[in-house]
Amino acid sequence: MNTLSKIDRQTQTLIDEIKYLSKMRNAVILAHNYQIPIIQDVADFVGDSLGLSQQAAKTDAEMIVFCGVHFMAETAAILCPTKRVLIPDLEAGCSLAASINLQQLIDWKAEHPGAIVVSYVNTTAEIKAISDYCCTSGNALKIVQSIPEDKEILFLPDVFLGSWVQKMTGRKNMRIWMGECHVHAAVHPSKIDEKMKEHPDAELLIHPECGCLTPYLDRVARQGGDNKDVLKVASTEGMLKLASSSESKKFVVATEIGILHRMKKENPDKEFLPISSEMSCQFMKMITLEKLHRSLVEDVFHVTVEEETASKARLAIERMISIF
Ligand code: 13P
Ligand code: SF4
Repeated sequence: MNTLSKIDRQTQTLIDEIKYLSKMRNAVILAHNYQIPIIQDVADFVGDSLGLSQQAAKTDAEMIVFCGVHFMAETAAILCPTKRVLIPDLEAGCSLAASINLQQLIDWKAEHPGAIVVSYVNTTAEIKAISDYCCTSGNALKIVQSIPEDKEILFLPDVFLGSWVQKMTGRKNMRIWMGECHVHAAVHPSKIDEKMKEHPDAELLIHPECGCLTPYLDRVARQGGDNKDVLKVASTEGMLKLASSSESKKFVVATEIGILHRMKKENPDKEFLPISSEMSCQFMKMITLEKLHRSLVEDVFHVTVEEETASKARLAIERMISIF
């Protein structure tokens, strides 16, 4: 449902002012698929990490207001050094990005000289700066497949995404960091069994960061047959595309619940059931309409990356964008 159709006058005034200020300041508002519905509705573009970094790279707006978490705004700042990048709340972090720090990666690289470092986009700029490739859930398979077979790979920081990529590519010489996202790691495989038993006619859409994924994929592979056809693993944007293109009328969705807004809005004739209504990222939910308004009025909070770090991180991100 479009939230703009059922809002009060005060909210409408805020929205009108946001749109006016955004136009006056030649800004573009980017929002991640996990943002609250009203932020998604007011944004110029809504998408996954890859899509948003591509939008940031090609926009001719002078300013980017990033409604997402800090590493996403940092990625936009790296790709667009001449633009002003704002985030409406500086506290919007990411538990996955926090699961590896610079010294840990320096030490890990020293243990494996010559290895190629592939960092998920959910990392800080300083981690990207000492990585060879960046990747997102939308292109991790392609990035790993593009690396010569004889090269050892250090994949970080998400253990579930890494295990899925390893399983799908059959890559033997790939080491995976044991990081996780607290929202996706909390999904137990039994939740999936429970939901699919309740809705045997539903298709299952899973984000590769999910903790339920690895044992579930193993089980599906062991059992063979039918389940494979109803299980789809994809980035948030990939899940949205699958939901629209599928003949199915019902879906069980294993990722953060913010995605349900676009799924329902774009497919009003289909039913979407969250694997758990508790799958909510408190960092994504920190961005509110009031904070977005304040961001444009007060020109806060400016996200910058020091040029030496940015130029190295840009190489890893641009390598990713050029492959996809
Ligand atoms: P996507 O790149 O699939 O949008 O995922 C980003 C994210 O933070 C998932 O938790
Ligand atoms: Fe980070 Fe997890 Fe939130 Fe995505 S859902 S932004 S990985 S904490």
